[in-house]
Amino acid sequence: MGRVLAVANQKGGVGKTTTAINLASSIAAAEVDTLLIDCDPQSNTSSGLGLAKDPERVSVYHLLMGDATADQALQTTELEQLWLIPSHKNLIGANLELVDGDRREFRLRDAIAPLRERFQYIVLDCPPALDLLTLNALVAADSVLIPMQAEYFALEGVSELLDTIERIRAGLNPTLTIEGVVLTMFDDRTNLAQQVTAELSRYFGEKLCRTTIPRNVRLAEAPSHGKPALVYDVRSRGAESYIQLAKEILDRHIQFPGVSATQAVPDQQEKQVVNAPRWKRWMRERNKLITINLQDR
Ligand SMILES: Nc1ncnc2c1ncn2[C@@H]1O[C@H](COP(=O)(O)OP(=O)(O)OP(=O)(O)O)[C@@H](O)[C@H]1O
Ligand SMILES: [Mg+2]
Repeated sequence: MGRVLAVANQKGGVGKTTTAINLASSIAAAEVDTLLIDCDPQSNTSSGLGLAKDPERVSVYHLLMGDATADQALQTTELEQLWLIPSHKNLIGANLELVDGDRREFRLRDAIAPLRERFQYIVLDCPPALDLLTLNALVAADSVLIPMQAEYFALEGVSELLDTIERIRAGLNPTLTIEGVVLTMFDDRTNLAQQVTAELSRYFGEKLCRTTIPRNVRLAEAPSHGKPALVYDVRSRGAESYIQLAKEILDRHIQFPGVSATQAVPDQQEKQVVNAPRWKRWMRERNKLITINLQDR
């Protein structure tokens, strides 16, 4: 069964979409079948992967309304093992249209249930609001990844999200966990970043991802070319950091052939065996210049 990971933070512009696109692409580049679902009416994930706007296209909106199956909404991408279910501007209306609908918080979960067999990872990009769309994503998800910037009041901003996650656990989705908190647009040269990181580390402990994502212009440029960073410029620090993040997250849940158990992480039962994932090989094929050091893979 595939794992569903929601990328959520109700604060705007913290790097949710950049994280969803580049994490999903990095997982797919490791030869893991991955689906990215754009749950945000802004449709940045869809356009960031080069999908032109098309009002006729089957989208998450149709899934939530029960007008299409998830299978019908699948789009292929430039990466062989990455698929996309795009968003639609009508999605903004779904919040209102679903208000009186039955199982309104479970629409996405129900719609993607048949795809859990087919994809090993399903990544959900959420809008910057704790609305019914984010609620649907959190109910559909096994875990939440929270992108955050290292700012003062970072914790205050995220407490509302943590409260929401608690409430969802108490009722709609008892098995929802926090995958991690990832620092985005990070500059470790500043005192502020170091202080905030220390505070977040005290608060989140192991949930604070070891990988941080630096501010990197390639990450900001790539979507305007309709490409994930590892296709746009695999040698960039941005692409490299998201590959590292994918590695950190995959290591928790997937047993790669050839990786010894000592390198593996605690909950062995949850691990699935997948076919040889090889970012290095993928990059060699893609780009002769390999600067990314993933020797231990
Ligand atoms: N690590 C980074 N380095 C440089 N620019 C970045 C980085 N991460 C994100 N950005 C840029 O910051 C802006 C906001 O990022 P992004 O769209 O990923 O945030 P978001 O949380 O999805 O926003 P929204 O809340 O509107 O959905 C974008 O212009 C993006 O290109
Ligand atoms: Mg976004």
